[in-house]
Amino acid sequence: MYAQMVKSEASNDDPALLAAFQARIDAGEKIEPKEWMPEGYRKTLIRQIGQHAHSEIVGQLPEGNWITRAPTLERKAILLAKVQDEAGHGLYLYCAAETLGVSRDELTEALLSGKMKYSSIFNYPTLTWADMGAVGWLVDGAAIMNQVPLQRTSFGPYARAMVRICKEESFHQRQGYDIMMKMARGTPEQKAMAQDALNRFWYPSLMMFGPSDKDSVHSAQSMAWKIKMNTNDELRQKFVDQTVPQAEYLGLTIPDPAVKWNEEKGGYDFSEPDWTEFFEVIKGNGPCNAERIEARQKAWEDGAWFRDGLMAHAAKQRTAQVAAE
Ligand code: 3HC
Repeated sequence: MYAQMVKSEASNDDPALLAAFQARIDAGEKIEPKEWMPEGYRKTLIRQIGQHAHSEIVGQLPEGNWITRAPTLERKAILLAKVQDEAGHGLYLYCAAETLGVSRDELTEALLSGKMKYSSIFNYPTLTWADMGAVGWLVDGAAIMNQVPLQRTSFGPYARAMVRICKEESFHQRQGYDIMMKMARGTPEQKAMAQDALNRFWYPSLMMFGPSDKDSVHSAQSMAWKIKMNTNDELRQKFVDQTVPQAEYLGLTIPDPAVKWNEEKGGYDFSEPDWTEFFEVIKGNGPCNAERIEARQKAWEDGAWFRDGLMAHAAKQRTAQVAAE
């Protein structure tokens, strides 16, 4: 079902309707769920919003791994709140996708069967407490860089979900940076852990923005429809420009000797991530892909009785309502 919905972006839509639609997009209007939209637009949104929702849900796993091992009660409470926020983000995004005519069950099944992706970053393990700092600082930092422009995306429900998500992501990023600051200014062992976490998360964070522009399949059409507001490389550059001075402030070293301010372009030069690794990870061959899907599969199966109970309750309520009318 999901495959049918997103299989082809080629459109048989009426050219006059398409032109009128594009004029609305160009004029900066928001498109709402019940309004006419090209099939390709709807499919692209289902793919992107659905994958984004899955990323929020799967993204709870690497950090959930550390809730019971947080070093203080305060850190535990903060981490717990952050992970709960991610669950909330997933739910807003599934709701936004549902307005396009796909159910949450269909999206979940597409994730579990491997038809739908989630962000490559969550296929890397979180090995030490410093990784909680690196994830908050870099991963949530990259997510904000990508998502702030999406507050202006053309599809109303997606843009509105992004406003709240971005506020919460800013808190997440700050809490990650705060952990890094404590570690970087702690004992030599703690500073070494912070550096090690930066070393492991740097390139995977750069990969979050997607392949380089020349290999990005969807960017051109998605930008014409204002589903995406920037290219992958533009956002990656902005992220590097923001992050390098933050690493300097921490007294940590970006694990890329090519990082150097380039006066002419007004940004840092840096090395590309290993794109072979990226494509392997999104094909399912990253360090934690199997473990992440297994965890989601188990959660789906364990929750079946609850979903069944809710449906039975709703059916009973409907019957009672009909009888009363
Ligand atoms: N991880 C997994 N797959 C990726 C990817 C990544 N980092 N980057 C690109 N891809 C996939 C695309 O989905 C596409 O595959 P598909 O055709 O099977 O869907 C393929 O690689 C080609 O890439 P494109 O550049 O053509 O794809 P897009 O135009 O969709 O751009 C994107 C990719 C920039 C990630 C875009 O989809 C986007 O902006 N998505 C919304 C934001 C999002 O999903 N963020 C997830 C981050 S994690 C998060 O938010 C959780 C927070 O708590 C940290």
